[in-house]
Order: sequence, then structure tokens, then C-alpha cells
Amino acid sequence: MSADPPGSDPAGLATATGRAAARDLLAFYLEAGVDALLAEEPVDRLRPEEVPEQVFAQARAPAPAREAAPPTLRTPAVRPALDRGGNLPGMSTAHGPGAPAGSPAGAPAAPEEAVMAAREAARSAATLDELAAILARFEGCALKATATRLCFADGTPGAPVMFVGEAPGRDEDIEGLPFVGRSGKLLDRMMAAIGLDRHAPGDNGAYIANVVPWRPPGNRTPTPLETQTCLPFVLRQIELADPDILVCLGAPAAQTLIGTKEGIMRTRGRWFTIHTGKREIRAIATLHPAYLLRQPLAKRLAWRDFLAVKAALAERTR
Ligand code: URA
Repeated sequence: MSADPPGSDPAGLATATGRAAARDLLAFYLEAGVDALLAEEPVDRLRPEEVPEQVFAQARAPAPAREAAPPTLRTPAVRPALDRGGNLPGMSTAHGPGAPAGSPAGAPAAPEEAVMAAREAARSAATLDELAAILARFEGCALKATATRLCFADGTPGAPVMFVGEAPGRDEDIEGLPFVGRSGKLLDRMMAAIGLDRHAPGDNGAYIANVVPWRPPGNRTPTPLETQTCLPFVLRQIELADPDILVCLGAPAAQTLIGTKEGIMRTRGRWFTIHTGKREIRAIATLHPAYLLRQPLAKRLAWRDFLAVKAALAERTR
């Protein structure tokens, strides 16, 4: 019999059965994607009494007057596409610096306010370093609160080709760099097969980023609002990195950056023209390396896409 006073071991961890039950529960959480401990006590953010008062104050605050905002700052549709002028949304609009006023770190800003702040903040960056610093201070996306680190970019800025994925995974979150885990290693091998190395200087280099630069908890898909809030930053990143060729890795990146509504199997391998705000560049979508790890037979399709990228790069220098 335990000598502990009643109630001192509410989880029953002192017994083998209790410990086994706790292990099972942890395994269940892990499978459900809960793989990070943020606090000792759970917080039910849907219960009003558990949400900090500032969040309600912010939610109650009147939305910024539409007349006060320049017309170019209107919130675009959740799934952006090329606008009528052929521009990527947010790339050809005027922005100034800013972040959601009064947003405590990790607190959700009003959606429209967060997107507008993101656009202004992204537009205010004159260099990639400035953009990274602005993004690191940006409080408009709740993913920042659960991610360990910002994964801004890796590789060679100014390289002729830029690869963009969806969002960092666990390894990326730990290292603070995109595509460094298993899918990143496969991406490196695929790049090497067409003569690219993310760290090589000049024409053999590659620049790598994600649409969303913070890891969604448990690698879940970023919500449309999270994607929309991060979009101005990646658009500005593409504009400042100024690649000749953009390669979208997987459907979410393709749908977000190329604006296609079709699935990746229909989109992959086709060339698109996008306007970065600075100039028109060529864009192509291919299968995400994580998908190729699960479906190795699909590598032959990705290989065709990579050969198309190689040919386009060679054409560029002719
Ligand atoms: N998957 C992505 O889309 N991006 C990464 O950085 C890693 C995995």
C-alpha cells in the first residue's frame, strides 16, 4: 500500500498500471500531433474566462475604417491568385511598416488587421535581412507563439532558382532553417542531380523558403488565415531574392504562389509566368519531397520537372 496521502498522486503514476496508462495517453497525444509542451497546465482557449482580456478588447475594437485605408490594402480573397494585372497579390501594392497594434505575443489579431499589418511590414523591408528581422518581430501570426524558431530561408540569396515549400516541420523548427529534415535531404539530392547546391555561390546555388515560416503545431496544415497572413512576407521575399525561376514544392505552395486551383498532379511540370512586383519570372510546380518519400514511384515525375528546371536554367544563360 502507498504511504502517500490520498490525492498526492492523482495521475496514478506511482503504480505500474498508472504509468502504462500515462504512456498510452502520451502516445495518443503524439499520434494526434501534440508533440510540444507549452505549459504545465492546459489552457482551453475557447472558454471565455481563460482568454486574456486584451484579446477580447482587440476583438471588440472596431475594425479599422475602410475609408482610412488606401484601396490597395483591401484584404484579398483567402486563396490568392494572380490579380487582373497578372501580379501576385501583395506584390504590387503600396505598404508601410507596422504590426497589429497592441497584439500581445501569440494573441490572435483581428484577421483583417493582421493581414494588413503583414502587408505593410513586408513592403517596408528593403533587403532580405531587413525582411527577416521584421518577420522575427511580427506578432500577427499565432504560429509564432507555438514554433520554436523562425525558419526564414536557407541557401544563396540572389541564386537563379528559388524553391518554396509549405511550412517548416519538426527538424526545421529546431534548426531554424527550411528543408533540413528528411524531405530536405531528398531535396538536396534532387538539386544535386541537376547541378544545384543550396550553399554554392552564383549560378549553381539555390535559395529556399516556405510560404509559412513558422512550424504549425504537430505539422498540421496551416490555416487559410495563417497562410494569408504570412503571404505578403514570402511574396516580398521572392521579390527581394529575385530568382529567374520559382519552383513550388507541393500543392499548397503552388496554389498560393501560382494561384492555380487544380491539384498538383495537373499543375506539376507546367510553366507559368508570375509577376514579382519587380519583373516577370517563370514558375513551375513539382511534387513535394515529403510526398516522394511516401510514394517513391512518383520520383520519376519529379525528375522530369527537375530536368525542365535544368533546361530552363541553361536556356537563361544562352
Ligand atoms: N516541408 C516543407 O514544406 N518545408 C520544410 O521546410 C520542410 C518540410
